[in-house]
Amino acid sequence: MFFYSCKQTATEKLVDHIKISDQTYLAVTEIADSLDVPWDMQYNPVTNSIFFTQIKGEIAELDLATNQVKSLYKVPNVYHQRTLGLLGMAIHPDFRTKPYLYICYTTKEQDSLFSELTRLELKEGKVISSKLLLKIDGGTGHNGSRLSFDSNRILYWATGDIHSLTHAQDSTTLNGKILRINEDGSIPKDNPIKGSYVYAWGFRNMQGMTFTANGNLLTSEHGDAIEDEVNWIRPLHNYGWIQIEGYHDTPEEIAIASKSPRTEPIRSWTPVIAPAALKYYSFTQIPEWTNSLLLGTLKDQSLRILKLNNGQNKIQKEDVFLKDKYGRIRAITVDNKGNIYIATSNRDWKPQTKFPLETDDRILKLSRIDYIPKEFISKEAELTDQKKDAKVLYQSYCASCHKEDGKGTTGSFPSLINSSVVSDDKRFISTMLSGITPSSENEKQVYDLPMPSFSFLTDNEITDIANYIRTKLSNNKLTIDTKVVNDLRNQKY
Ligand code: HEC
Repeated sequence: MFFYSCKQTATEKLVDHIKISDQTYLAVTEIADSLDVPWDMQYNPVTNSIFFTQIKGEIAELDLATNQVKSLYKVPNVYHQRTLGLLGMAIHPDFRTKPYLYICYTTKEQDSLFSELTRLELKEGKVISSKLLLKIDGGTGHNGSRLSFDSNRILYWATGDIHSLTHAQDSTTLNGKILRINEDGSIPKDNPIKGSYVYAWGFRNMQGMTFTANGNLLTSEHGDAIEDEVNWIRPLHNYGWIQIEGYHDTPEEIAIASKSPRTEPIRSWTPVIAPAALKYYSFTQIPEWTNSLLLGTLKDQSLRILKLNNGQNKIQKEDVFLKDKYGRIRAITVDNKGNIYIATSNRDWKPQTKFPLETDDRILKLSRIDYIPKEFISKEAELTDQKKDAKVLYQSYCASCHKEDGKGTTGSFPSLINSSVVSDDKRFISTMLSGITPSSENEKQVYDLPMPSFSFLTDNEITDIANYIRTKLSNNKLTIDTKVVNDLRNQKY
């Protein structure tokens, strides 16, 4: 088994631990603080840094090698008020050759509000040019919005309905839509409506957007008083707003959907949670979360893990983490190792009880650790103490050579503490099942005595001994499941 250790730099502060399962624990560390409503965050593998927007108009870069934040650019003309300001951002997928950031934000001219989509060009960590790609109507609220690239370098812009009664259902306007845009701002030739940016419609105010591994586009959206949503976006689908909210579950909604097709969300929440950041998680670093959506919520102040089916278009399971711990969570990104970064939004227009903290807003990192954190040990220890005979088993079968404390005898019997074999589930168990026969061919051989096979012990006895060594003799390492022993004995590996 391979674990990612969390190398803490000087500015990385341990805040908490989370238990995902008996096998998986995460550290939560703070890597940036005193920010002002980070709205969107995108990891850039080329620079190994996170670019993020802040609602008042600033773009900053967090270098993951040093955890230093540096201000990159102040977007001119951003109009900030309540939910208006500098919002979504996307990084060009070919950043090495096309060092572009795409941003969208509110502007005001006389009494009119607009949402602008702009492309910024970077060179050596500085913005050297900017190009306005698209300008649409803005409103005093419901301006969306998020930006995402698909694997064909087409940009999607999730726009809000700007509180309009007509936009969302009008496929000829650009608000309350998913817009599909070329990287230079032009209309793709293969858009579903010729000569139009519109890709899908019937939306109120989307606050999260992500592509899954197989290319499905998913969004999170705020409902009115009820029915927050996650939608699976497909071309020319109508998602119902303003006539239909959430599932088609009232007689009026069913009647409307029977006349002309409307697409239901794949998940709806009542009471509302204010879903925001949405990010597909493909990594195995946290195996329980592989193929899930990471959803940050504002009102509910949580990180939700929405486990997807193989088709990546249905939610099979939902787990809630970090509830009320760090406040409102608006932005999430994931680095190339599977570490997760979340940004709080406690200095926005809706402060909650207990928040903002003095250190808000913060960027917190969630990464897997290879030890059982202290606060979880008493419970684990109770469990192992129920199996008192684990110690007796170890003393009867192993201590004669490896000694009671597991430290062995130099030159004759290896120490089991900090042994790389012991920390590898399969090698550890196979060693116990098959033993080790010293071979004359192996020149590097340190030990010339054999290690006997213990295959006569039951699966449970072997598991108990293994876990006794890991938790009692070593320093509270993770435990092994009996299933591993069972599978190895039956050669399923
Ligand atoms: C008769 C002595 C003896 C007994 C009893 C014994 N071992 Fe060993 N064990 C050895 C020797 C010798 C080696 C080194 C073999 C080699 O590497 O060639 C070894 C190696 C190991 C290793 C590999 C360590 C490393 O880092 O290379 C593990 C793990 C291990 N034993 C676990 C156990 C466990 C668990 C038990 C009890 C169920 C046990 N052993 C009982 C003699 C013994």
